[in-house]
Amino acid sequence: MSNDTHHDDASRNRAASPDEPLIQGHNYDGIEEYDNPMPGWWVWLFWICVAFAPVYVLGMHVFDVIPTYEEKLEADQAELAKIRTAWDAQNPTFEASNAAIAGFVGVDEAIAAGRELYSANCAVCHGNSGEGLIGPNLTDAYWIHGNENVDIYNVITNGVLDKGMTPWGNILAPEERSRLVAYIRSIEGTDPEGAKEPQGTLYEETLYEEDES
Ligand code: HEC
Repeated sequence: MSNDTHHDDASRNRAASPDEPLIQGHNYDGIEEYDNPMPGWWVWLFWICVAFAPVYVLGMHVFDVIPTYEEKLEADQAELAKIRTAWDAQNPTFEASNAAIAGFVGVDEAIAAGRELYSANCAVCHGNSGEGLIGPNLTDAYWIHGNENVDIYNVITNGVLDKGMTPWGNILAPEERSRLVAYIRSIEGTDPEGAKEPQGTLYEETLYEEDES
């Protein structure tokens, strides 16, 4: 203390009254300094950080018990891949095939659901009963794009843009499109009022096959 040349007045280190701020004893070219200690919480935080730093550095880079950002990312992505695989297993992507769509054809619930979808989305162009309007008659045995289940499914999915048939692939789910095929199959041969003149190729078999059964 006696060597402290800046400590020119030790008594100034103590405040005269509690209201008066403590002044550090030193004086640099007339500049004095308040003796305000760091708040306790700050000092604690500081020491906790100091204590934590070596734990963190050694844990991450030497003992490898704390995962690095890259390791965490890799682990999380592996986890995500597992969730995706499980999801895919539970929700197999619908493969449009004659056989798969045949699972909908003739099924009452599928036809009823298909009828609703049809009224909401298709009737404007194909008529309320499929008799044809802007779009072709869907009840006759004439088909422009083929009359296999999958042909009808594909027209619904991809549309015929230059002829004014909307593609529904991004609007209706595969199951919904299959229900529409089921509905269209169910109205085949119904010969509704105001039926539009035939368009396309005649496919006799299907129509009479349905009639015979
Ligand atoms: C904006 C009018 C429009 C809407 C809406 C529409 N279609 Fe069409 N559709 C057409 C036209 C036009 C064609 C004829 C395409 C051609 O000439 O190649 C067609 C063709 C078809 C065909 C093929 C017929 C054949 O003879 O091969 C099917 C099946 C069909 N539509 C089903 C549907 C279904 C199901 C919906 C509702 C989800 C629907 N369409 C909605 C206009 C429409």
